[in-house]
Amino acid sequence: MGPRSEPDLRQLHDVGRVREGLPGGRHRVRRTDRRRRHRAVPRGARALPHAPGGGDVVTGLFVTIDGPGGVGKSTVTTAVAAELRSAGVAVCQTREPSDTPLGRLARQGTETYRGMAMACLIAADRYVHLDEVIRPALAQGTTVVCDRYIASSLVLQVLDGVDRDVVWELNRHADMPDLAVIVNARTEVIEKRLTSRGAHSRYEREPGNAARECTAYRETARFLMAAGVRVLQLDASAASPDEIARAVAVAIQELWTRGSA
Ligand SMILES: Nc1ncnc2c1ncn2[C@@H]1O[C@H](COP(=O)(O)OP(=O)(O)OP(=O)(O)O)[C@@H](O)[C@H]1O
Ligand SMILES: [Mg+2]
Repeated sequence: MGPRSEPDLRQLHDVGRVREGLPGGRHRVRRTDRRRRHRAVPRGARALPHAPGGGDVVTGLFVTIDGPGGVGKSTVTTAVAAELRSAGVAVCQTREPSDTPLGRLARQGTETYRGMAMACLIAADRYVHLDEVIRPALAQGTTVVCDRYIASSLVLQVLDGVDRDVVWELNRHADMPDLAVIVNARTEVIEKRLTSRGAHSRYEREPGNAARECTAYRETARFLMAAGVRVLQLDASAASPDEIARAVAVAIQELWTRGSA
């Protein structure tokens, strides 16, 4: 898929389930682990049928939002959470690196830790985040909206010199999201936003980084789709955060509708 110049708010890719034989073997694609579970639905939506085998456990939807530094992930994550809450959905808005001591170490340590050390630190933080925040929220039926997750690792750690297969393997036991949103934009748009907001990390300060990240997120979207993850790619070049949030909410609603059909 080549770079797009026009906003594209409705591109949903659904390639089903994880296949054996991918780099690093089988990862946890959540909907394959869903026997005896169904998702929490917003008020007014029909309840999902129970999966074969029965059971009455409600599980929330796990949505992640990734994309190049400065593209607008945090702004969009907040807008998505607000949009869902206003529809009556219980939402846990969270982010990676997480707000745990390990996550703070990673967030504040981008100048200190690089390559494999950073890849391990980010993966370790992800496992703590899953155990302490994400899985408990999902188990209560809360929809989790996470600012940065696996796609960011597959881009930043790889740009930092770690093999993608190694990053993938480090994340072998991490749950894959039900919906991985990748927000992208034209390089010049990202550079302009970064200039007016200011860079957050060494990645964002490196010359030519925005173009490299744009390309790497497109490749990562393809990689995740091939691994069975449902990916929604959105172009934020000319779209407001609210428009993007609405497109994400539409995709989430489609998942609920599809699940309850
Ligand atoms: N769709 C948009 N249109 C115009 N400006 C935007 C849009 N989305 C975000 N912005 C602005 O761009 C800047 C970067 O947004 P934000 O901090 O959300 O990016 P980010 O992807 O979370 O960055 P980082 O990777 O550094 O966390 C902010 O000043 C924000 O207000
Ligand atoms: Mg951010």
